Amino acid sequence: MYYPEELIEEVRQKSDIVDVISGYVSLQKKGSNYMCCCPFHGEKTPSFSVNRAKQIYKCFGCGEGGNVLTFVMKYENCTFPEALRMLAEKAGVELPKAEYSEEARRRESRRMRLLEVNREAAKFYYVMLRSERGAKAKEYLDKRQLSDGTRKNFGLGYAPARGEELLAYLRHKGYTDDLIRDVGLARTDERRGTTTQFWNRVMFPIQDINHRVIGFGGRIMGDADSGPKYLNSPETEIFDKSRNLYGMNYARTSRTGNIILCEGYMDVISMHQAGFTQAVASLGTAFTPGQAGLIKKYTKDVLLAYDSDGAGVKAALRAIRILRDAGMSGRIISMSPYKDPDEFIKNLGQDAFQERIDHAENAFMFEIRMLEREFDLGDPEGKTNFHNQIARKLCDFGEEVERENYLEAVAEKYHIGQDILRKLVVNMAAKTGGYAVQTERPKSGIQSKRENTPEEHARRSQRLLLTWLTDAPHLYAKIKRYISAEDFTVELYSRVAKRMFEDIEKNQFNPAGIINMFEDEKDQSEAASLFTTTLPELENEQLMERAFNDILRSVKKNSFEYYRNRSGGDIMAVSMVVEGKKALEELGKTNISLK
Ligand code: UTP
Ligand code: MN
Repeated sequence: MYYPEELIEEVRQKSDIVDVISGYVSLQKKGSNYMCCCPFHGEKTPSFSVNRAKQIYKCFGCGEGGNVLTFVMKYENCTFPEALRMLAEKAGVELPKAEYSEEARRRESRRMRLLEVNREAAKFYYVMLRSERGAKAKEYLDKRQLSDGTRKNFGLGYAPARGEELLAYLRHKGYTDDLIRDVGLARTDERRGTTTQFWNRVMFPIQDINHRVIGFGGRIMGDADSGPKYLNSPETEIFDKSRNLYGMNYARTSRTGNIILCEGYMDVISMHQAGFTQAVASLGTAFTPGQAGLIKKYTKDVLLAYDSDGAGVKAALRAIRILRDAGMSGRIISMSPYKDPDEFIKNLGQDAFQERIDHAENAFMFEIRMLEREFDLGDPEGKTNFHNQIARKLCDFGEEVERENYLEAVAEKYHIGQDILRKLVVNMAAKTGGYAVQTERPKSGIQSKRENTPEEHARRSQRLLLTWLTDAPHLYAKIKRYISAEDFTVELYSRVAKRMFEDIEKNQFNPAGIINMFEDEKDQSEAASLFTTTLPELENEQLMERAFNDILRSVKKNSFEYYRNRSGGDIMAVSMVVEGKKALEELGKTNISLK
């Protein structure tokens, strides 16, 4: 959907950034800014600042920044049109409806209809749980220690023993049997006619990331009951089991920076109840690449909290490979001595679980540890085979540094000589055709240090000048004969400057509007940083003035050198050099006053 820029601007202007962000986090006024701990990275002292005059936010800790739209996109993990729609609704701005083709409109209206049936069914189950007939189910949930808040949060319900009741209810609401069948709530056979899918079960509505009910899981309450422990809705037009995750509607706004992948619905629920709102689970089927893709939109840091039994380990090993293929790193949370997160938390509590998260095992080391179980290390042959298998797995690292790091770690843990292991790896690589080529590597944790290079110095002066002009746009009139957008040698800076100067001339400059020029989130952050650099705070006007003039000259000097280096043949560059030389001479003699 394409929205015209004026409309985007209208929504933005009617959505005050301080008001909007206050709806998500609690802000404290500090001088001309509002501060809080950054919702985008973990911190204990506030470095997240919101500025009402500029209508932008910026975190001085992690560098995240932007305008009100950027914020909503980041916080809600949604797309630009989604953020725009959310804000437009709050601000009372009407957006044009998308123009669908006839076919698309029909499909969309059918989807809506199917979702409606599910929502009604969820409502029905919900009410049933709280009715007299739900007494047994209620007792069951009591036994599993789920609070009222948790039951409500996950919309838990009860499907009564007589399945016809749901059918009667839905038919009464005007839904046809076809529709009820198509959404997976009923089936028809010749002998029994139309019957419901779920009866006498505790119901878990499964929601997509937009909180829409797309399917159900139902659990029997006792061991004596017949049928499988959990029964799920079949896949339907609106229920794609390979692309949704249970709990993701809440997990996507948890601010932990990681996702915890569990095996079961109950695990997710008890984790959320204990405060781990980043927990999700697959939907009665094994973890899929589609689900990895879904998680990757939010984070690359995935923790596995699978059952500690054999099936759980197998599932974890599978999930690790899927995550790795998707370019993500996995870490494994140890549940021992308990079976699953639900039991663990009930017995040892939340702090103990947090500790397990903090000490989660690296996926590779976990794989090796599981591999070890397959060999008899007391037997020389078993040991040799084990070492060869390690070498084979080490070949999967395409990057030498990483391979070497793991080699050292494994060698130390399993008491293998490093040189011996390295030799095995080289032999293995020769035998099997070299090391893996990895296109996208999971983060290794090595951060590049920001260096104090001349380029960085130049960028910094340019940022300072733009921020200064943001705070005091009247200065532009005084410097415009020396400075133009071309003097900003970083492409993005130059685009911002160009627009900024035009807007100032027209007397309609607003920084937050400029951020909308950029679609990419990173660009938006970077643009925001141009308006929020920390300016020097000097004792008096005179020193401030000197600082400003220094910054101005530094920008000009850098630009002059930049164009001089590339002036061979480029007319624009030549004229920038000529003009730059003149301007620098003048600036050397002039002092721009800040008044
Ligand atoms: P578990 O049996 O580990 O579930 O199966 P759980 O969450 O620990 O169940 P409780 O604690 O006994 O209530 C894990 C997941 O596998 C699927 C469900 O999605 C379940 O959450 N499953 C399990 C089924 O789909 N059918 C079954 O019969 C059993
Ligand atoms: Mn369980």
